[in-house]
Amino acid sequence: MSKTYDLIIKNGKVMTPGGLIEADLGIQDEKISEIGCLTTCSAEEIYDANGLHILPGVIDSQVHFREPGLEHKEDIAHGTKSAIKGGVTSIFEMPNTSPLTLDEQTLQDKLSRAEKTAWCDYAFFMGGNSENAHRLSYLERLPGCAGVKIFMGSSTGTLLAKDDEVIADVLANGVRRVSVHAEDEDRLISRQNIAIESESPQAHPDWRDVESAVRATTRLVKLAREANRRVHVLHISSKDEMDILAKHKDLISVEVTLNHLTLNAPDCYEQLGAFAQMNPPVRDLIHQTGLWAAIQNGIVDVIGSDHAPHTIEEKERPYPSSPSGMPGVQTSLPLLLNHMHEGRLSLQRIVDLTSAGPQRLFGIAAKGRIAIGYDADLVIVDLKKRRTISDDWIASKCGWTPFDGKSVMGWPTATVLRGNIVVREDEVMGTSGGRAVRFFEADVIN
Ligand code: DOR
Repeated sequence: MSKTYDLIIKNGKVMTPGGLIEADLGIQDEKISEIGCLTTCSAEEIYDANGLHILPGVIDSQVHFREPGLEHKEDIAHGTKSAIKGGVTSIFEMPNTSPLTLDEQTLQDKLSRAEKTAWCDYAFFMGGNSENAHRLSYLERLPGCAGVKIFMGSSTGTLLAKDDEVIADVLANGVRRVSVHAEDEDRLISRQNIAIESESPQAHPDWRDVESAVRATTRLVKLAREANRRVHVLHISSKDEMDILAKHKDLISVEVTLNHLTLNAPDCYEQLGAFAQMNPPVRDLIHQTGLWAAIQNGIVDVIGSDHAPHTIEEKERPYPSSPSGMPGVQTSLPLLLNHMHEGRLSLQRIVDLTSAGPQRLFGIAAKGRIAIGYDADLVIVDLKKRRTISDDWIASKCGWTPFDGKSVMGWPTATVLRGNIVVREDEVMGTSGGRAVRFFEADVIN
């Protein structure tokens, strides 16, 4: 008797860990159950992916979905809907919420809200500062926690671990990889007048200059070595930092964002003003070229979006009272496919950066690759589809994207979350069914 599945995705080109193959996928009980020729099998639902590529769903390990406290900017329902429309099946949310995520209760509140409203799978970072450093080995192992995140320089919110003593304390408590926003707070404060006097977002990369990033990253590398602790440096913005980080790949992992890889100064500030303002800033082409070189030579481990939406009204405030951050969770994959079309990276490298990379760094259980026994989190893409990214496509609460009007080649046609088709041709289907991501170093072996 022929085998029956919940879902068969047939005729697609499947990106497996071994490379691209033509195969059908049989999905049963939320997992990938068979990869091969399934023409004699039946299923409750069959998706014909003829002419399309099937990739692991994107794992976006840096988003700001704002709950609790800042829901006017974004919330889990809108943020995760935006995620699945862009082919993202898991997100890790950042702790600079209000209140700050520094204890088990705030984490639990977020998990409860996500259980009711999230459209994709999720985990939450625990913030680290002087208050909770001594509790982090316990807090980082709570189910649903993606690890610890610290801010060495102030950005949106008040979460800060600026001094070496505090950072060393955080690194001494716990074992999981610590994620870090590396800008040097003292230097940022000493140069703040540059922003205030200029009154123009053009000054943003000058105020928060390369040296601010280099100083923090250099201090961090030293502290990570002393503590012998794995560290993940978020949204690297300069070529100079890549030169430093290349020497520490045994301990330090590296993230870049599509904002830094796609926009560049001064054009982005001329065209978008404070809508292109983020921390660390988008810099000039020399740095962008350095970031692409680091993608090509393997220094970069993951792409995160740093989805950090602010409302249009907030962004229209005079600089520097305009807040830093741009939405991005929905546009990462289309932009990456377009960069591939323009010859900057391969499809295999996209998958390495967006699913296999986060899985490896954060020790995610049973996600991040198309393999038997893994969660059937997939994005089906049409590499030949040309579309224009537009504000009205964006499901995020803020309703804008810095890439409005950009024509891209390559588009997510469908998103599958644990075997359920949750997006088909831009239409969100069914009900929100996200669940907490599981980690080897927290849930699985606790
Ligand atoms: O530009 C940014 N915005 N960088 C950050 O690190 C925080 C983020 C936010 O939360 O708005």
